[in-house]
Amino acid sequence: MASSETQRHSLHGQWSSRLAFILALSGSAVGLGNIWKFPYIAGVNGGGAFVLVYLVCVFGIGLPIMISEILIGRRGRRNPVSTMAFLGEEEAGNKHWGLVGLLGVMASFLILSYYSVVAGWAVAYIFEAGSGALIKIDAQSAVRKFESLTGSWVISGLWHTFFMILTIFVVARGVKLGLERAVRILMPALVALLFLLLGYSMIEGNFAEAFVFMFAPKFSELTAEGVLSALGHAFFTLSVGMGAVMAYGAYLSNEASIIKTSIAVVTIDTAIAILAGLVIFPIVFAHGLDPAEGPGLIFQTIPIAFGQLPGGRIVSTMFFLLLAFAAWTSGIALMESPVAWLMETTGLERWKTAIFVGIAIWLIGFLSVLSFNKFSDVELLWGTFFQSFDYLTANIMLPLGGLAIAIFTGWTMCANSTSDEVDPSVGRIYRMWRVSVKFIVPVAVFLIFLNAVGII
Ligand code: PHE
Repeated sequence: MASSETQRHSLHGQWSSRLAFILALSGSAVGLGNIWKFPYIAGVNGGGAFVLVYLVCVFGIGLPIMISEILIGRRGRRNPVSTMAFLGEEEAGNKHWGLVGLLGVMASFLILSYYSVVAGWAVAYIFEAGSGALIKIDAQSAVRKFESLTGSWVISGLWHTFFMILTIFVVARGVKLGLERAVRILMPALVALLFLLLGYSMIEGNFAEAFVFMFAPKFSELTAEGVLSALGHAFFTLSVGMGAVMAYGAYLSNEASIIKTSIAVVTIDTAIAILAGLVIFPIVFAHGLDPAEGPGLIFQTIPIAFGQLPGGRIVSTMFFLLLAFAAWTSGIALMESPVAWLMETTGLERWKTAIFVGIAIWLIGFLSVLSFNKFSDVELLWGTFFQSFDYLTANIMLPLGGLAIAIFTGWTMCANSTSDEVDPSVGRIYRMWRVSVKFIVPVAVFLIFLNAVGII
């Protein structure tokens, strides 16, 4: 429990309850990462062994870092940059910890810039589905439909613009207003729909092959790069390593249990990703599609499945609507920390800051829009702009940020400060968490990096 010394208040108010916080944090965690990215990178990396490493990373590395971030955020009660600088000073006389927050703010900009483009595709598919264009669609036409969307920079640019406007709108009004209420309905609806789809995939798809693909580890398929992307995706899907969780933690009441909340959010997030995989792969195998298809995977498989289903038009429209909503609640979380940071440092009003940050991200986003058409030949270090932003943020910036956050709570903060924030009824888990952030997380992240660059 927090001591009286930590009774600080956030400028931006507080969540109305612990449940509201769990929902907001799950809203941030559950998004394109679970439904779009997880199946496609599991496919690209050969399935089972990748999924296993991903699960180990989520629970062994991501969960402890999520606990650290909420703890830091709630103790500092400022935006991530100022919180890290302030606590660094308070705990160790070192303000430079603020740089970790700054790395996170940069990651937010880059991630949201390409995230919004993919979210825009999801919005476009709401209309495709709603108009009946996906009814009885076959595999080939589904691929062509996706390519004609991404191939046009004007059309995908417009959807990207639309998604950014929606995101700016909520962040400008303050995250709590509207967001809390929205996630309360949307999250359960998304889960219900995924179960419905699971039923379809089990009956109509090649469920057995999909199950083996996802859960029978073939370690020969796993490369060092694959291990790094499993680690990177664990950070990405939980929204950790960049201060987004810290920003939300700053609005959490002192009474809520950080550990229990984190376990709940991580479990929800993982369950949804696995569910998405179990929906998508049976369709992939039943229709002879390639599991390693890449970023277009769900946009090509889901329409096929729904196209056959009675009532498919309504259900597929709902699916893409919920996917877009899941992306929206994540986009909001991505924008909150840069906006809170600029507001607190410049004194600008929230709505002005949100518009300013939003326009900057929107502009950067066009590099990703163009990566599928005019700039598709432009090769940076890790492929197109889109691929490079994804690689740089998920596989490098988030693990580095997470490493620093773990070291901060494990080594820089004194044990009294961390135990102050934790519910005493979970003493044993608290001690396990300490050991994780002190030793396990830093060593594991370090080794995975060395492995990926070929040193070990
Ligand atoms: N976790 C989100 C997803 O899986 C993405 C995200 C990353 C959101 C970082 C906020 C911060 O879609």
